[in-house]
Amino acid sequence: MIDISKVENDAELRQIAVLADEIWHECFVGIISEGQIDYMVKKFQSYEAMKNQISKQDYYYLAVRENNELCGYIGVKPEKDDRFFLSKLYLHSSKRGRGIASEMLRRVFSEARDHGKKSVYLTVNKHNDHAVDVYKKTGFELIDTAVTDIGGGYVMDDYIFSYKL
Ligand SMILES: CC(C)(COP(=O)(O)OP(=O)(O)OC[C@H]1O[C@@H](n2cnc3c(N)ncnc32)[C@H](O)[C@@H]1OP(=O)(O)O)[C@@H](O)C(=O)NCCC(=O)NCCS
Repeated sequence: MIDISKVENDAELRQIAVLADEIWHECFVGIISEGQIDYMVKKFQSYEAMKNQISKQDYYYLAVRENNELCGYIGVKPEKDDRFFLSKLYLHSSKRGRGIASEMLRRVFSEARDHGKKSVYLTVNKHNDHAVDVYKKTGFELIDTAVTDIGGGYVMDDYIFSYKL
């Protein structure tokens, strides 16, 4: 059974950070360098980084569990305007291809609707082919591209997709 629930405490957030480190070092190999993976995990997905996103930047996280085992996570942020930002959508490799991702995306849409938003947008690395396919299949539309300097000599080379609710 899949359970998707809001991360409410530090212990859960620390578990998400451990899972994030594992997933990032698996899924981004061949897309960005090992050095950039380490840099981005520390900057965006460490316990301290996520704690800061939650306390200072209006983010919140949802933990995805199958039979009580943490296997994925979602990071989102309601914007001040009518958009909802899907910042992170990550599922452990052992759980992929089974419909869990679609359930996660349905949950994102319902969270966005609960916040009164009209669209959900996200950024995805241009070379993350599978994620791009999943977003297109779900009904997201390509609206823009962005090259973002994230410091450390690294850039994020992304597509921006949007889904009308
Ligand atoms: C992105 C991610 C969450 C998707 O999860 P997944 O389990 O691999 O996704 P699925 O294979 O179940 O695909 C989801 C849906 O897209 C469909 N799909 C997948 N590949 C497709 C393709 N090439 N063409 C058309 N549809 C496709 C699936 O059929 C499924 O639809 P369904 O549930 O209605 O059957 C997962 O691959 C992941 O965590 N990847 C690593 C992290 C990552 O890249 N995250 C995104 C960062 S922006």
